[in-house]
Amino acid sequence: MKRVQIAPSILSADFSKLGEEIKDVDFHGADWIHVDVMDGHFVPNITIGSLVVRAIRPLTKVPLDVHLMIADPEKYVPEFIAAGADMISFHVEATPHVQRILHMIKSANVRAAVALTPATPLSTVEHILPDVDMILLMTVNPGFGGQVFIPQMVEKTAALRELLIRKHADHIDIEVDGGIAPETVGAIVHAGANLLVAGSSIFGKRDRKAAMEALRVACPV
Ligand code: DX5
Ligand code: ZN
Repeated sequence: MKRVQIAPSILSADFSKLGEEIKDVDFHGADWIHVDVMDGHFVPNITIGSLVVRAIRPLTKVPLDVHLMIADPEKYVPEFIAAGADMISFHVEATPHVQRILHMIKSANVRAAVALTPATPLSTVEHILPDVDMILLMTVNPGFGGQVFIPQMVEKTAALRELLIRKHADHIDIEVDGGIAPETVGAIVHAGANLLVAGSSIFGKRDRKAAMEALRVACPV
């Protein structure tokens, strides 16, 4: 099993002091900072854009994991690359140009990832494995923090890890996003996820060190 990495999602942070919030999880060992970009079209919520990515980039050495929940991601990927994203994921449901966008991201030396909502089958990624560094499986329907983990996503994660092993692509990371908490990490990590996004279970708690430790302790590896 791969080492499990933790990506606190700033969606649940206090935006009035975002810099301090990021430094807090940086200090306590976050592996990534997860940035949720929502456009009010692909998902029914609007959050932040590349200006915020650019503003937080100098505040931390922790890599920025930018999750685009937007329509027509090909139009906006270049500005997130320029803003300093270290990894960019976009939804396969949001564009007919999946492989083209992956190449656009990789040619800028940024890690490239695709994201799948809970209802999207794994067959959508089966033939593009050589082009991805990570696959993000949504474990809630994208759009909001603090939603309830969908238990069927454990089986989906296990099926994806099996597919990656069968296709000799086991180096690809599986990120899970939504409802990740000490109660849910055990099963999902056992199924093969190795990158955990957590919003409310980290930023929703006062003691971020304890919150991240609780996630790590609950991991079977
Ligand atoms: C939801 C976002 C998530 C969100 C997770 O659409 O993609 O990254 O911040 O929040 P929690 O961990 O609270 O479910
Ligand atoms: Zn996310």
